[in-house]
Amino acid sequence: MRASYSHQSIENLKAEIDIVEVISNAIQLKKTGANYKACCPFHGEKTPSFVVSPDKQIFKCFGCGVSGDAIEFVKKYYNLDFIEAIEKIAKDKGFTLEKTAYDDSKDVYYKANKDAARYFVRSLLSRHNEAMHYLTDVRKMDIDIITKFGIGYADEKWDSLYNHMAALGYDEKTLSELGLISVNKGRKYDRFRNRVIFPIISTNGRVIGFGGRTLDNQGAKYINSPENPIFHKSNNLFSLNFAREYLRNSDFLIVVEGYMDAIGLYQCGIKNVVATLGTALTENHGKILKRYSKKIVLSYDSDDAGRNAAYKGVDVLRDAGVSVSVLHVDDGKDPDEYVKTHGKEEFLNLVSNAVSGTDYQLRHIARDYDLTTGDGKIGYVKSLSAIFEKLSPVEREVYAQKVGRSLDLDYKNILFQIGNQGKTEASKRIEKTVETGDRNLSTTEKVLFKIFFMDGSYFVKFKEHEFSDGVITTEMGREIFSLIENEISASDGFLDENRIKDAMNPEEGYKIDEIISGVPIVDVESSFVDCMSSARLAELGAKERRILDIIALADEEEEGQEAERLQIKLMKIQKEIKKLRGGVDL
Ligand code: GTP
Ligand code: MN
Repeated sequence: MRASYSHQSIENLKAEIDIVEVISNAIQLKKTGANYKACCPFHGEKTPSFVVSPDKQIFKCFGCGVSGDAIEFVKKYYNLDFIEAIEKIAKDKGFTLEKTAYDDSKDVYYKANKDAARYFVRSLLSRHNEAMHYLTDVRKMDIDIITKFGIGYADEKWDSLYNHMAALGYDEKTLSELGLISVNKGRKYDRFRNRVIFPIISTNGRVIGFGGRTLDNQGAKYINSPENPIFHKSNNLFSLNFAREYLRNSDFLIVVEGYMDAIGLYQCGIKNVVATLGTALTENHGKILKRYSKKIVLSYDSDDAGRNAAYKGVDVLRDAGVSVSVLHVDDGKDPDEYVKTHGKEEFLNLVSNAVSGTDYQLRHIARDYDLTTGDGKIGYVKSLSAIFEKLSPVEREVYAQKVGRSLDLDYKNILFQIGNQGKTEASKRIEKTVETGDRNLSTTEKVLFKIFFMDGSYFVKFKEHEFSDGVITTEMGREIFSLIENEISASDGFLDENRIKDAMNPEEGYKIDEIISGVPIVDVESSFVDCMSSARLAELGAKERRILDIIALADEEEEGQEAERLQIKLMKIQKEIKKLRGGVDL
C-alpha cells in the first residue's frame, strides 16, 4: 500500500522547498542576475535557455516551453508522479512527511516478498549452483546486471524457502497467497524449485511478484506469481522501474515479451525497454505506457505466437492513443538472442526500420492469402475491414492507396468494398464529435498559443497588436486564451502549461500537449508575424464578402449614398488585403 500524507504536512514541505536547491541536485545552474540559467535537460541544446527564478519559484525553458514549479521539475526529470516527487524532495531535504492513518493490511505481503527476494539472491550468490552457471555461461549475463535486476535462485529442495520464511514468522496463508508456497493435503512445499528467479519490481521500488524460469525443464518453462492483493499482471510491466529513468533521453519505449529479452537489451545499453508479465497487453498497460512514452515499439518473438500477440498489441495501443510500431528480429529467435549476436547498433537499426502498427497488421493478414491470385486478393481485401474500421478517414484513404498499389487495384474499390461491411469505428467517432459540438482549435490559434508557451512576452505583444481582435475565433480558443490570460497575470509573465491543463476539462488537456509537441516553430518572431497577418487576412476576407453582399442589395434598393460609402470601405479593405499578401500598393 502506498503511503498517503497529510495535506498539512505536504503544505509545510512545499513552503520549505527551494527550487534552486531542488534543480541543482539534478543539473548545474549558473547565476545570471536575479535568476539562474542552464542548458535545458528536457531537450537538446547548446546555449542555455532554461531559466530558474528563485523569486517566483518556477522554471521555464524558452527553447522548448516546459515550465513549472519545483515539484513539476522533479516529476518530469525523474519521471515520477506527484506523491513520488513529494517523497523524493522530502527525502533529499531530510524532511519527515506525516502519514495519514492508512490501510497497512498489504504491508506484510510486500515485506514477505522482499524477504523472499533477498533469500533467492543469497542462494544465487553464496555458493556454486546451476542457476549461476546458466545465467553467466549459457545466457552471457554480466554479474552487475544480475545484481541490478536482483535475480535469484530457488534451489531444487522442496522446503528451503518455506523453512526460511516460517522462521521469519510468516504464516502459511500469506505465503500461499503470494504463491511462494503451495499447500497440498496439509503439506507445504516451495512453489519455485530449481528455477532462476526474476523479481518483479513496481515503479516505487517494491517487489510485487516473481517469475521463475526452469533450469531442468520440469513443469512449465515459467512459473509466475499468481494474482494477489499486491500483484496484478495487467497493471504492471517488468523493468519499468529501470526503464523510466532512461525515457528522458529517448522518445520511444520498447515492449518485449520475455524477462530475458528485457534484461538482454538492457545489458547491451538499450535501457528503455519493458516486458509484459506473461500475458497479452491490456487496456491498462496501454494507459500506463502512454504515461511514459507517446511512442511504443513492439519487439516480439518472430514465431506465430509473437506475431499474433503483436497484432493484438497494436489494436490495444492504438485504442490507448499511443503511436505504435512493430519490429521482428529476422535472425535469432528473440530480441535477447539477436542483440547478443548483432549488438546494440544493429538492434537500434531495426527499431528505426520498424513498421507502423497498421502496416504491420496489413502484412500480418496478407500472410494468410496468396496475393498472386484473384481469389487471394479478394479474400484479403474482404478481411481488412477489422483493421480499417479502427482508422480515421484520412488513414483509411492512405492505407487503401497502399494496399491498392500492392495489389494493383483501384483504392476506391478497396474503400468501397470495406465501407460496405458495416459502419466503421471512425465514422461512429465522427458522429460523436458532431453531437458534442466542435471543440477544435484553428491552426492560427494553435500557433499563437505555442508562441505564448515558448515566450510569454508575446502575450503582451499580442494584446497590443492592432489586429489581435480577429485571431481567436473558436469557443475552445477563447477558453484557453482566458486561462492563459489569468495565468500570465497571476505569475508575472511566466506561463506554466501544466496549470493551464489542470484548469481545463481533463478530457481536453491533451490539446495543450498537442500544441506543445505538435506545432513546429523555428523562429518565434516570424511565426508571430505570419500568424497575425494570416488571421487579419481571414478577417478582411470575411468583411470583403459581407460588403459585397450588402452592395449587391443596396444597388437593388437604389440607396446610392450608402452604396458609395460601402464602395469606399471595400476599396480600403481590398487595398489592405493586397498589402498583406505582399502585392504592390498602387
Ligand atoms: P528465454 O526463452 O529463456 O529467452 O526466456 P524469455 O523470457 O524470452 O521467455 P519466452 O520468450 O519463452 O516467453 C515470454 C514470456 O512469457 C516469459 O518471460 C514469461 O513471462 C511468459 N511465459 C513463458 N513461458 C511460460 C509458461 O510456461 N507459463 C507462464 N505462465 N508464462 C510463461
Ligand atoms: Mn525468449
